Amino acid sequence: MDNVLPQQAEQALQYLHARIPLELLSPVVGIICGSGLGGLAESVLPEPRAEIPYTNIPHFPQSTVQGHAGKLLFGLFECNRAPVVLMVGRVHYYEGHSMQSVTFPIRVMKRLGVGTLLITNAAGGLRSEYSVGDLVILNDHINLAGLAGLHPLRGPNAESYGTRFPALSDAYDLDLRRRAHQLWKSIDRGPVSTRRLHEGIYAFVGGPSYETRAECRMLRGLGADVVGMSTVPEIIVARHCNMRVLALSLVTNNAVLDPGPRGDETSIQDSRGQDLKRAIEKGKANHEEVLEAGQKAAADVQHLVSLLVRDILNT
Ligand code: ADE
Repeated sequence: MDNVLPQQAEQALQYLHARIPLELLSPVVGIICGSGLGGLAESVLPEPRAEIPYTNIPHFPQSTVQGHAGKLLFGLFECNRAPVVLMVGRVHYYEGHSMQSVTFPIRVMKRLGVGTLLITNAAGGLRSEYSVGDLVILNDHINLAGLAGLHPLRGPNAESYGTRFPALSDAYDLDLRRRAHQLWKSIDRGPVSTRRLHEGIYAFVGGPSYETRAECRMLRGLGADVVGMSTVPEIIVARHCNMRVLALSLVTNNAVLDPGPRGDETSIQDSRGQDLKRAIEKGKANHEEVLEAGQKAAADVQHLVSLLVRDILNT
């Protein structure tokens, strides 16, 4: 049984080659913009840009989620005018796509020439010291779905991309992480900003429901610092074809670890004396909140990503 992905990627590539001006082709850096972070395009890629909706590209999966409208943007990066490609909006497994389909754009980016991939996402914070709006550079992941066999590399191996059994122990490039921490220190965020940059482990869950309280405690107990519904399949496929990867999570909500009020307690007060209704509602995640946190943090995320791209292109 052959893996059809290389042929499909070739068809997507031919489509793009026929539509994108020559000077924008062969991007060396690829960027995936997470929920509410599509504004990265304006700061990183000034006009002229070539914009191709996912709907037009052969074999590209179609995004169906509000705030995730999908297009590939090709442009020349601000300072030294090197070509860069941006995925504005991504497709998630929970939309009904296969793992192979969700990660197909990474295969196409590889064929375009992308060697370094910068990934942003929205995630739930599992550590009490994380605040909404903080950023977390990922240094490892826990792939719950993958450990159970739901894996983007399942099936015949695409040998032209990489090995059957790729290692992931060095998936999160140390040099890029170091650079990101350095660059963050150089950003003047003004006297009132409390936003902090951490480093941590991402737990990948299938979604689309947010986690229960017990699941949040389990994930924290397993060692995860943030939880989200994307990124890990992309990282695996990018590493399979030997791209360097940096992934950045924006904490858009605090996952609730507190067990909440019990039904077998008669008091209408919870243990901390809070009103019962408030105790139930507290920390309940919703998609609007995720998008709002993305918009508020967008300027800092954009700044960090553009400094990183400049740094990568200059070395
Ligand atoms: N994305 C943003 N917040 C999330 C959460 N709590 N769980 C999963 N994905 C998320």
